[in-house]
Amino acid sequence: MKNVMLVVGVFVIMFFIAINYLTPQEIPMINIDENVNIYIVADPHYMSNKLTEDSETFTNYLESVDRLMHYTGFLLTMVEKDIKENKQDIVVFPGDLTNNGSRINHLEFEKRLKRIKSSGAKVYVVPGNHDIGNEKALKFKDNDIHLTDYLTHAEFVEIYQDYGYKDAVLRDENSLSYLVKPYQNLWLLMLDTTKDHPAPGGYLNRDTLDWIISCSEMAKAENAEIIAVMHHNLLDHSEIVWEDYTVDNNTSLVNTFLESGIKVVLSGHIHIQDIKSTTSSQTDNTVYDIATSSLPVFPHQYGKLIYSPSKGYKYETVKLNVEKYALENNITDENLLSFNTYAEEFFVENLCRKHRKSISILDLTDEEKELVYYTVSEMNKRYFAGYRNESLKELIETEGFKIIESLDECFIQEYVMGMIDDEYADNNFIEIPPSQDP
Ligand SMILES: [Fe+2]
Repeated sequence: MKNVMLVVGVFVIMFFIAINYLTPQEIPMINIDENVNIYIVADPHYMSNKLTEDSETFTNYLESVDRLMHYTGFLLTMVEKDIKENKQDIVVFPGDLTNNGSRINHLEFEKRLKRIKSSGAKVYVVPGNHDIGNEKALKFKDNDIHLTDYLTHAEFVEIYQDYGYKDAVLRDENSLSYLVKPYQNLWLLMLDTTKDHPAPGGYLNRDTLDWIISCSEMAKAENAEIIAVMHHNLLDHSEIVWEDYTVDNNTSLVNTFLESGIKVVLSGHIHIQDIKSTTSSQTDNTVYDIATSSLPVFPHQYGKLIYSPSKGYKYETVKLNVEKYALENNITDENLLSFNTYAEEFFVENLCRKHRKSISILDLTDEEKELVYYTVSEMNKRYFAGYRNESLKELIETEGFKIIESLDECFIQEYVMGMIDDEYADNNFIEIPPSQDP
């Protein structure tokens, strides 16, 4: 009996050695003209129906946020369908997977990832500032707000082990960052930029920056391209709204990426659609921070990145056609059947009305204030959707804009001028050529 167990034991050990030995060869290689499709689903803020109710308290909460909390599951179901129909190779979620990090939200969200993975796509996640140790994990019941269970760092890794952590070839000792090799020549550096809750801002410590450099050296030795994915932004996406959005030590991180030759960073967090880039004066290397807007925030879209070794990168956004989906699937919810109007009105009511306060203190007549509000809210809709500069031309010609231009320096003027003096006119599309001959 002892001998049989010994033979079985040796067989099991040899089997695992063989698996480990064979694994590198099993990782596919992207051929020179082949395309790899990557979906980027930013800040889905998934909230379980079990935590919400049809009550005044929940309605008041909805009005305090920028996102359609009660449709997060519906919108994710639409994305799942798109992924299955379009056969994506990779899907990345750059954090804020859940609303307020409730355990039940994470457990239900993981089931959705399992369905996505079963369609053949490789799925990777990193945490956002909402996801871990969130003592404000909320539940709405009996017309009141209650606290509910949240996750520790270890529990996050356990729940999401099949979406990056188990396949990681390297894990950072100082954070939940990891490196995966979905292809021999395309790796993903999944960076955990979160601080301890409730800090909304992001940071990477010196040891993690050194770890990034060692990952990039490995990639160079194996002729692999690296794409970085992180929740917080690498670069400022607004001249006035950047604190707690851009990582605190972004100069060090930008330099690390530029030195490492990492040129594409996929981020979220700021909830607007925006692309910024910076170029090193010494090496001429450029790094692009592509911030994809939050799925439950107007205009409800996700990102699609196509990578080819010979052509480089092509990024574009895909706007969900909720009305068409609702009609085709016999959905009776009037909000979904007339989603374009509903979502736009929700956005104006919840986000743009915040600007009313800034406008109300201006030395203008009521009629002028209304003209200014019209221009600011119309521009804001397009700004969140990724449009700037000449894309806002028709609004630059409005009476409201002329009034804003003539104001003394103030927040509203600075905010509006920032929209028409930006890096790109359309932040929904960019092509980035390969850095060297493949
Ligand atoms: Fe978010």
